[in-house]
Amino acid sequence: NGGVVDAKNLKVKLVLLGDSGVGKSCIVLRFVRGQFDPTSKVTVGASFLSQTIALQDSSTVKFEIWDTAGQERYAALAPLYYRGAAVAVVVYDITSPESFSKAQYWVKELQKHGSPDIVMALVGNKADLHERREVPAQDGIDYAEKNGMFFIETSAKTADNINQLFEEIAKRLP
Ligand code: GTP
Ligand code: MG
Repeated sequence: NGGVVDAKNLKVKLVLLGDSGVGKSCIVLRFVRGQFDPTSKVTVGASFLSQTIALQDSSTVKFEIWDTAGQERYAALAPLYYRGAAVAVVVYDITSPESFSKAQYWVKELQKHGSPDIVMALVGNKADLHERREVPAQDGIDYAEKNGMFFIETSAKTADNINQLFEEIAKRLP
């Protein structure tokens, strides 16, 4: 029963950042409740949810998730949520080049003011809207690689890669 003796139970503060409308709240809702809300309302301030996952070695990771508000008027609040976060998930919408630029802004902000050992993921969401794609996957791959981030494209609508996103983050925790 070595696996049981060695099992770790980690608690991890995770923050989601990104432009309004990219699907941050929908990603969290999909991960935590397995649901999708096509009429999702803009987040006001921030919202908090938690979800625990089990890894193959029977360790568990409890994600304490701060889902921030992407609207510009809330930008000044962001440091309250990313300060002390072990993980930052920066989200853009693959149909919106503006949201990709905004994601790059958040990455720079985190590099300047986040924890030095923060684990960062770059997420291109709304991958189901491939016929309206304006940000090539390769652009996300290249930017993530240059900045030492993990990259994945997801769809909160179809659930594609949502669990994988959090599993990959768990693997990269120190
Ligand atoms: P703020 O709270 O304002 O920062 O926005 P947000 O990033 O939390 O966006 P939200 O999750 O509320 O989603 C915005 C809109 O995009 C909603 O209409 C969602 O239904 C839609 N949406 C979210 N994820 C997806 C997706 O993967 N595919 C598609 N097609 N639509 C999505
Ligand atoms: Mg939201």
